[in-house]
Amino acid sequence: MNLFDVYPLFDIEIAKGIGCRTYDKQGIEYLDLYGGHAVISIGHSHPYYVQKLTHQLENLVFYSNSVVNKLQVELADKLGKASGYEDYSLFLANSGAEANENALKLASFHNGRRKVIAFNKSFHGRTSAAVRVTNNPKIVAPINEGFDVEFYGKITMFVPLLLKEFRALAEYESQQLIFFRL
Ligand SMILES: Cc1ncc(COP(=O)(O)O)c(C=O)c1O
Repeated sequence: MNLFDVYPLFDIEIAKGIGCRTYDKQGIEYLDLYGGHAVISIGHSHPYYVQKLTHQLENLVFYSNSVVNKLQVELADKLGKASGYEDYSLFLANSGAEANENALKLASFHNGRRKVIAFNKSFHGRTSAAVRVTNNPKIVAPINEGFDVEFYGKITMFVPLLLKEFRALAEYESQQLIFFRL
């Protein structure tokens, strides 16, 4: 499988980063002014960051957000204090597109409006609302112009089909399928 051809690529493979310096496979050093895509501008491999991530990876990598997560509470508390918006609520999302998508929805829920003013040649991500406010025909699919949905039957109708798929997958992976009874 090939990687989807999203952007033209610079012919550089960054293999390592320390602080504000990166090194490619040939060991050539670069002063990295990229700034972590403006979302993680803390420098590369900061020891505290590495220590916190290592600790978390060794303990629990993923769990549902329907259980208590003290780390999220701690983050909300720290962000509230750092930003001076302690009485605001923190909505955690996985990506910039998701953040913009939900910001648009939240604004619309709040003011009941549907019109958005956006900048020419701006980019907001690839989710539906983010694409809708982006005037780049390359990322606007016909479905982004609005679409009809038909809600059909009940999910239970699909359970036998899903189980068949799971079994086939398990056989393919030569793994034992474990069923949990709730
Ligand atoms: C200004 C801006 N908004 C939104 C996005 C989308 O973020 P993500 O790729 O995390 O969905 C990007 C990503 O490049 C961006 O630069």
